[in-house]
Amino acid sequence: MFEHLQPLPADPILNLMVQYRQDTNPNKVDLGVGVYKDEAGNTPIMAAVTEAEKIILATETTKSYIGPAGAEGFNHHVSRLLLGNQHSVLSDQRLAIAQTPGGCGALRMAAEFVAKCRSDVTVWVSTPTWANHIPLLQGAGLTIAEYPYFDKDTKGVQFDAMMDMLSNQTKAGDIVLLHGCCHNPSGADLSREQWDAVAALCVEKGLMPFVDIAYQGLGDGLEEDAYGLRKLADTVPEMLIASSCSKNFGLYRERTGAVMVLAASAEQAKISGSLLFSTIRGHYSMPPAHGAAIVETILSNEKLTQMWDTELTEMRQRILQLRHALADQIAAAGCEQSFAFIPEQKGMFSFLGISKEQVARLRDEYSIYMVDSSRVNIAGLNSSNLDYVAQSLTNVLKG
Ligand code: LMR
Repeated sequence: MFEHLQPLPADPILNLMVQYRQDTNPNKVDLGVGVYKDEAGNTPIMAAVTEAEKIILATETTKSYIGPAGAEGFNHHVSRLLLGNQHSVLSDQRLAIAQTPGGCGALRMAAEFVAKCRSDVTVWVSTPTWANHIPLLQGAGLTIAEYPYFDKDTKGVQFDAMMDMLSNQTKAGDIVLLHGCCHNPSGADLSREQWDAVAALCVEKGLMPFVDIAYQGLGDGLEEDAYGLRKLADTVPEMLIASSCSKNFGLYRERTGAVMVLAASAEQAKISGSLLFSTIRGHYSMPPAHGAAIVETILSNEKLTQMWDTELTEMRQRILQLRHALADQIAAAGCEQSFAFIPEQKGMFSFLGISKEQVARLRDEYSIYMVDSSRVNIAGLNSSNLDYVAQSLTNVLKG
């Protein structure tokens, strides 16, 4: 059964974690995997999470099964965090939602659900997109096509080319995967006007948006970062959402996310829900409870919500301050190339725009780790390594 197997290449992002751990250089810097780090280089447990865990430990009475949709309370609060409390989709009961094992679980369950609805569908993803998007969607048997997104010259979105492709190359019923905020890997986001135009195009062409939102609160703010998703939900009859609590609640290994199907009517949402839950039952039966219990405990308690919001705001501000500091420090190191675009981008990631060879030199000669595409996790910087990173990059760029 196994003797003919050939090893597969390691995952480009997860493998960096292993390489970094094995590096004995005391000056090593991890700008690889997308986890938030504080000034000391740690990925701390948020204080609101610790408080919620104490409450759960003191009050939990059973470990009995919950069911494929997960915790009702979690689903209630997360749908409101994303859509806002008053959204008509909620009052009209047009939403089917399930708690999932992380954003990956949400993406895959949405893809499996779509494959059951219409197996001939094409999903359009941005060039580039998060490295795991294509395996997750293709694994469910969906066809993938790409639309232009990141402009290497301007470091912004190639919006005209994107719209041109989506207007002319798609067919009604196709799905467009959009990053809700903090585009991974580029940090280049759509403006409000651009979201409005995408929403109008989806209606005009009969395209279904699929929003992956994993960084709400880490770009411009919790409400601001949901603009595009809410605009689409206001505008289109049908939509999919995959959301993650890994980053904004710091719950990475607890695997906490949600998948949402927005249907044209309450009746269709109910039927879609039955198909979604049966899909989940056929994969992992039901999601793990702990991470979702933490989120539910925080979002159902005003004091804890406030505490979490304050911590999230600090994280967001720290990232923004690091974006400015990195651009300034590189300029101060005498680098000829300008990195002034970095503070313009959102969330944890930016592309440095350097070659694969230069990325390898930074890793091999300076123990600075980033994805081969030159995606850096800005949150991996701090006042002790900023100067070193700026100087090393400048050295490598000088040749
Ligand atoms: C990342 O993009 O680095 C994170 O989302 C972690 C992952 O699973 O790839």
